[in-house]
Amino acid sequence: MDLLEKIESLKQEVNNTLVSNKDQLESFRLRFISRKGVLNELFNDFKHVSNQNKRLVGQALNELKNLTQSRFKTLVKDLEEKEGDRIKAGFDLSLPPVQNTLGTAHPISSVKLQIIKIFERIGFNVSDGPEIEDDWHNFSALNFPENHPAREMQDTFFIRKNPDIALRTHTSSVQVRVMENTKPPIRTLSPGRVFRNEAISARAHCIFHQVEGFYVNENVSFADLKQTLFYFAREMFSKDTKVRFRPSFFPFTEPSAELDISCLICHGEGCPICKYTGWTEIGGAGMIDPNVLEFNKIDPVKYTGFAFGMGIERITMLKYQIKDIRLFTENDVRFLRQFTSLY
Ligand code: DAH
Repeated sequence: MDLLEKIESLKQEVNNTLVSNKDQLESFRLRFISRKGVLNELFNDFKHVSNQNKRLVGQALNELKNLTQSRFKTLVKDLEEKEGDRIKAGFDLSLPPVQNTLGTAHPISSVKLQIIKIFERIGFNVSDGPEIEDDWHNFSALNFPENHPAREMQDTFFIRKNPDIALRTHTSSVQVRVMENTKPPIRTLSPGRVFRNEAISARAHCIFHQVEGFYVNENVSFADLKQTLFYFAREMFSKDTKVRFRPSFFPFTEPSAELDISCLICHGEGCPICKYTGWTEIGGAGMIDPNVLEFNKIDPVKYTGFAFGMGIERITMLKYQIKDIRLFTENDVRFLRQFTSLY
């Protein structure tokens, strides 16, 4: 076929092309405009056109080139408008369906809620305090001596400009907040975030959660503390969970104890998780030091109290056998989706 005729028939083809989707638009581009398209092919053929015909064929070829480019622009615009209309109408039936996935409570939130529910059943209410605390509420009113190592920089995030202000290192600060505003009997639970200047590893984080609980009334005894935590451990973990108190020291309790539960994996037999001891630690507890009551204007002769503090990450890791504390803050949905059936 003569080159001019070929150009003419291609012009017609370009003018008649309609597209209704992106694939067809791309086919048009490939056929005419791309490097291996017909236009380039024709420009190659043009080299062999005799000199006398060059002007005529060249003109026709340029017309075809301009036509193709403007047609392509029009087709792109038309397609965009069509898609816009479809989206405006609220339907794009060509799209795959969007899965109706619901959000879910974070395992820490859900365990926090489980803990609250367990203690609510025995008369505890919930109280809250600020995450940015002053020395008095985080340390002094809890009977920390002036030079106690916990006040030093390696544990506490202080505010540089004001050493009196720090991120709370434990939820025990809420004890003080509650005592200064409430008269006994007090029976309250305070879950919340705490902060410590610690290196992040599989077992430790610089931001984590604790739950504090305490009870002040006349005649509160160590037996009440033991029974309360025994009840909690059985409800939280399983009916055959045992509780063990190990003598310890906290400035705000006397006597103080570290709280262990029997290993959930081996039930006390000894396994790698409990380092063959049969026990795992979940927190601290004790009888509130009379100094703390006195600092908060509660008569330590009339009233006694117990207090306890536990790590929520720790409880969650034990309950659901999670081996790395960093998983809680990585937002990996493959991890989080495993907890969709909780609250
Ligand atoms: N505040 C302690 C800590 O962060 C935990 C604790 C121990 C809380 C004994 C208490 C308690 O209320 O009685 O390590």
